[in-house]
Amino acid sequence: MKALVLSGGRGTRLRPITHTRAKQLIPVANQPVLFYGLKAIAEAGIKQVGIVVGDTAEEIKQAVGDGEKFGLQVTYIYQQEPLGLAHAVLVSKKFLGSEPFVMYLGDNLLKSGVRKLVEQFNREKANSRILLAKVKNPSQFGVAELKGDKVVRLVEKPKKPKSDLALVGVYIFDKNIHQAVAAIKPSARGELEITDAIQWLIDQGKKVCWQVVDGWWKDTGKVEDLLEANRMILDELEEKIEGKLDSESKIEFRVRIEKGAVIKRSRIRGPVIIGPGTVIEDSYIGPFTSISENCLIRSAEIEHSIIMAESKIENLSQRLSDSLIGRNAVIRCSKQKPGAFRLIIGDRSEVDLV
Ligand code: DAU
Repeated sequence: MKALVLSGGRGTRLRPITHTRAKQLIPVANQPVLFYGLKAIAEAGIKQVGIVVGDTAEEIKQAVGDGEKFGLQVTYIYQQEPLGLAHAVLVSKKFLGSEPFVMYLGDNLLKSGVRKLVEQFNREKANSRILLAKVKNPSQFGVAELKGDKVVRLVEKPKKPKSDLALVGVYIFDKNIHQAVAAIKPSARGELEITDAIQWLIDQGKKVCWQVVDGWWKDTGKVEDLLEANRMILDELEEKIEGKLDSESKIEFRVRIEKGAVIKRSRIRGPVIIGPGTVIEDSYIGPFTSISENCLIRSAEIEHSIIMAESKIENLSQRLSDSLIGRNAVIRCSKQKPGAFRLIIGDRSEVDLV
């Protein structure tokens, strides 16, 4: 069994962060989203992984390298344009050969990993196994319609969904999928949809098995989903204090402070992770916050947020909450009067003063 990880695409729903960064590399609990998928694949005993890359290829290559750190052998596959998930399979045909493979969307996070799914597929004689999850907003996903215990219809982002069962971005296929992706036509949004390719398999009488996902699943395509994924991963965080904490600081609940981080006169209430080289002074860091490496937080209160590397947050007069702050960002408040907002904001940024 091989794996195909999709890490191309444009990440339009996460702009402005994705103007400068691949969406699959946005950190959740201080690790790129993509790494969780790669680890899950390695845990399932798969070695050969093809990563489909597009405009952000160099960044992804730099982060993942040859895959050795995950125990994987990675082959990069270029997709010139993000023409759809089924198109990504088309361009990967040479790498995949006729072996079955796990297809894993690089922005998906799955608590249960993929081992069970692979084992189940290996036990049965199916052509595909898909994962489904109940969601509140099915029209934002591929949606499955069941009859008895069979999937009869799959529709990509339907306006009037026939069920609340969404297709999770993790699938297993055998070689029949190559015929399917070659047979389908682009959808109304101009993409070759994997959903349509699976429907093609069903229409051809191929065996498509399904199961409901174990534990939580998140597609991190939007800011709220990233923050929610961050919350879910931090919820299972193991406590480890390797950085320095002065006697005036206080830690409550599960907190991870990485080597080289320094906490002075501050209160950290977990679950929280603080990356190496980050300095926190005279601050409060509240639950479900991830602060990446080499940040400076001084006289600020932050909770339920992701702060990326090298950022500086100083002298805030209000708590920063539910926020996603990119790399090298600076947020500071001066005490001078008269007060005013002075903002240098990138395209498509959002500032909510609540
Ligand atoms: O997350 C689950 C959903 O993923 C499914 O319910 C949908 O049926 C499926 O179509 C997909 O929908 P999204 O709209 O969320 O897909 P997105 O465009 O975000 O792409 C998913 C991943 O694949 C992402 O990491 C980018 C990558 N990608 C995407 C396209 C369109 C590629 O590598 N190449 C592409 O051409």
